[in-house]
Amino acid sequence: MSLEKPHILILAAGQGKRMHSKLPKVLHPVLFHPMLHHVLDLSFSLPHASISVVVGHGRDQVIQACKKYSQIQFFHQEEQKGTAHAVGVAKDFLKTVKGHVLILSGDVCLLQKESLEDLINFHFNNQQALTFLTAHLPEPKGYGRIVRNEKGTILAIREEADASLSEKKITEINAGIYCFEIKSLLDALENIQAANQQNEYYLTDAVSYLIENKNKVEGLSLSEPTEIHGVNDREALHWAEKVLQKRTNERLMREGVTLHLSETILIDPHCKLAPDVEIGPGTQISQSRLERGVVIEGFCKIHACHLEEGAHIKQGSYLEGSLVGKEAKVGPYAHLRPESKLSRGVKIGNFVEIKKSTIGEDSKASHLSYIGDAEVGKNVNIGCGFITCNFDGKNKHKTVIEDEVFVGSDTQAVAPLTIGKGSYVASGTTLTKNVPPDSLALSRVKQENKEGYSKRLRKVD
Ligand code: UD1
Ligand code: CA
Repeated sequence: MSLEKPHILILAAGQGKRMHSKLPKVLHPVLFHPMLHHVLDLSFSLPHASISVVVGHGRDQVIQACKKYSQIQFFHQEEQKGTAHAVGVAKDFLKTVKGHVLILSGDVCLLQKESLEDLINFHFNNQQALTFLTAHLPEPKGYGRIVRNEKGTILAIREEADASLSEKKITEINAGIYCFEIKSLLDALENIQAANQQNEYYLTDAVSYLIENKNKVEGLSLSEPTEIHGVNDREALHWAEKVLQKRTNERLMREGVTLHLSETILIDPHCKLAPDVEIGPGTQISQSRLERGVVIEGFCKIHACHLEEGAHIKQGSYLEGSLVGKEAKVGPYAHLRPESKLSRGVKIGNFVEIKKSTIGEDSKASHLSYIGDAEVGKNVNIGCGFITCNFDGKNKHKTVIEDEVFVGSDTQAVAPLTIGKGSYVASGTTLTKNVPPDSLALSRVKQENKEGYSKRLRKVD
């Protein structure tokens, strides 16, 4: 890699009409992240002098969505008059910096680092005024075509709207990714006219201008053309997501993760999965870390979680913002809401919802419960149908269940209250006050049997 670091400018001001959406195009998610974030992540992975984004359509929304990237600067393109006009709004900045600028497109989100490194290296090693990426596509429709002479030397880029019938047959296309020497770029921008079918200032016209003025211009053809697909409509969005999904899943499998029916599994490329993790079909995982030996059965959704070694998540479970300890078991059909912490060996069974609660080692809630704002100790057994009544309509209250407690089925704890260590709560009890340690708590109406009564009722019918 060259020692020189280019400035990076990302064009993201366009409306994306073909998406038919209120959301600015570059914010549409591809595998859990807005398209623009993929481009920004890639930019930050490269040596760079600065990173800027040209925003326009949905500007505030785009800036807001990029908050986590604190070092980027934005340029505002009031009216979208074409790609050269978009670069032009950064002109004053570019005049103050020396060197080179890499221009990326917010909607070309599948690019890989190696391809940009090749582009930058070629550009610097050959002291180019302009180097850009091209690709051969069997269906080049919609892209600018690379016009070459009979010797193969590049003459110009022709946009689809302006292309002649014979030019439309050219299958080598412009990827919209450029590395410019800043001085040459500024010179070209001064001379680009909007004399075309779309009355737009085309950045692509810099190619013929610089060639005519004897500057070094070259197009580098990518061997893997899937990378350069621009997302202009929902079909392309779907396609881009599939490409990124395949790329991510294949990497994970190479790293030792088993994916059953991989094409049905969506994993955020930023997730960390250890070897010997096993994931079933129809599962989605984002912003999460899974340690060795974790098993996720099918049709689960896991977001912002940390699953420790050997945790087992059974089918149809939905986990968000939670920690699942070693060897813990969750599901089938369980729901862990944010700030739930399950310790080692915990068992959470079917139709149990946990919210903002800590569950101690080896404790169990195996069936049909709601546990919210609770602190549950070790070796606690929570029976079927236990409910923490944590909300009084205004405030949330805490339930504390100390170690070794046994909670019978069909019980409610009207919080705030504490069930003392080693206590036993009888089935059907509604707790409204603290239970001292080692006690039996029961609040049942005495059973009455009226013999023969049911026979009498049947006679009335
Ligand atoms: C552009 C290229 C085309 C290339 C294709 C590759 C031009 C004239 N054409 O066409 O040769 O094959 O990309 O994907 O450059 N943008 C702005 N402000 C504007 C216009 C566009 O910021 O005024 C941004 C868009 O948000 C987008 C990028 O520039 O991120 C490309 O614009 P788009 O309208 O998608 O250009 P294409 O028609 O795809
Ligand atoms: Ca495009």
